[in-house]
Amino acid sequence: MHTPSATAVVGLQWGDEGKGKIVDLLAAEHDVIVRYNGGANAGHTVVVDGERYALHLLPSGALSEDKTCVIGNGVVVDPRQLLKEIEGLTARGISLEPDRLLVSDRAHVVMPYHKEHDGALEGVLARAAGQGDENLSIGTTKRGIGPTYADKVHRSLAIRMGDLLDADVLRRRLDIVCAIRSRELEALGVDAPPLDPAALADEYHTLGERLRPYITDTVYGLHDAVADGKRLLFEGANACLLDIDHGTFPYVTSSNCSVLGIPPGTGLPGTVIEETVGIVKAYGTRVGEGPFPTEDLGEDGERIRERGHEYGTTTGRPRRCGWLDLVAVRYSAMICGCTSLAVMLLDVLSGFEELRLCTGYRLPDGTVTDRFMPDARRLATVEPIWEVVPGWEPEIDHITEAADLPPEAHDYLERIAAFVECPVAIASVGPDRRQTIRLGQHAAS
Ligand code: GDP
Ligand code: IMO
Ligand code: MG
Repeated sequence: MHTPSATAVVGLQWGDEGKGKIVDLLAAEHDVIVRYNGGANAGHTVVVDGERYALHLLPSGALSEDKTCVIGNGVVVDPRQLLKEIEGLTARGISLEPDRLLVSDRAHVVMPYHKEHDGALEGVLARAAGQGDENLSIGTTKRGIGPTYADKVHRSLAIRMGDLLDADVLRRRLDIVCAIRSRELEALGVDAPPLDPAALADEYHTLGERLRPYITDTVYGLHDAVADGKRLLFEGANACLLDIDHGTFPYVTSSNCSVLGIPPGTGLPGTVIEETVGIVKAYGTRVGEGPFPTEDLGEDGERIRERGHEYGTTTGRPRRCGWLDLVAVRYSAMICGCTSLAVMLLDVLSGFEELRLCTGYRLPDGTVTDRFMPDARRLATVEPIWEVVPGWEPEIDHITEAADLPPEAHDYLERIAAFVECPVAIASVGPDRRQTIRLGQHAAS
């Protein structure tokens, strides 16, 4: 079988589709696993032999000890969190020697004031909404993602991983940054002493020194890997409908988390990507604010939440649940140029007499469309048009061959493939590596 030189794994909904599981699985066929966007807002769960790992910054390939992991320049790195994850894996017997983890010297650093700003602004906006103003809060993970990317785009006050290695540069930058940020935090109602540049510079220089063995020019590292014939696997964080340009703005995250973020987030041209696997949860979930046309606020949504354990990996928040929105998934597959799909958490749907698939939207003027609209205000006004299909009774979490799936489950996969116009190559029926069905030649298409 031809193994592509680079494969992208990307979520096609609002996150938590099961990207971590598929990256861990596909890591076996690749040499280098690369994160290109987002930060510790991501929570990727991998289950190996009953052991559960939750990764936020480290690529999920970290669990395969013969693989190289890269944190590309497009990621925003919280150094404390990164060290915590490295140490956490080491304590569980998985070592990350410096030759196995490369962190871009150009990746931007999430500083404590970014996280404070994120939480404080969300608080101000939520309180304003409580007093009758428009609700402008996004329901962020409060990991400082937005403020860090804002500093990157704003340029002058930004701090990159490479800056942590030079105590003088860092101290001089933090003198001015802290003066400005302290006033901003005060204006947002944060009741804390002004930021202390000397203490912060000391702490972050020390963190930088601890990470020094990993910090490098990953752009040349990645081009060298491609030239050496290494196979790359890009691990998307967050998901296409949270993409800053192509998601449901403003209820999105602050990076290009579709496949389109790979070139700027790694320094590699898009032409290296041969295969793009779109990860689709068999139903719908969303965390935080924003329109979600197929949300089910009744018993069915509750049943999906309990069967799917739909509580956030990063924040523990209950996820909003509903049915599969094929209009949205087809849009994301188009944006990302998916060559195949992996349908995840299919086991969660066992026991429903009927399942709903959204195949169109009815607009307020009564017209119908099967085109997605990423504008949040417009999307909030649509009514889903449902296709109701038969469910299946038996549990399927032990099944490993497509032929053993109930016919209704097979039809469900085929309907997804037909609507999205992309073959389903993998169906996942449980969190463990083993609970995976490869559809191969007989892919539902
Ligand atoms: P990610 O952010 O896309 O990597 O997804 P998360 O890890 O946040 O959420 C997916 C959750 O579903 C995790 O708890 C996984 O262990 C779990 N999971 C993945 N695939 C399956 C599956 O096929 N069935 C079930 N029941 N759970 C799954
Ligand atoms: P993974 O990689 C689910 C959502 C947040 C919020 C919005 C903005 O695990 O699929 P942010 O903190 O990024 O500024 O929050 O985006 N969000 C996610 N939701 N899974 C994720 O990542 C997410 N990353 C961001 O809930 O609504
Ligand atoms: Mg997640």
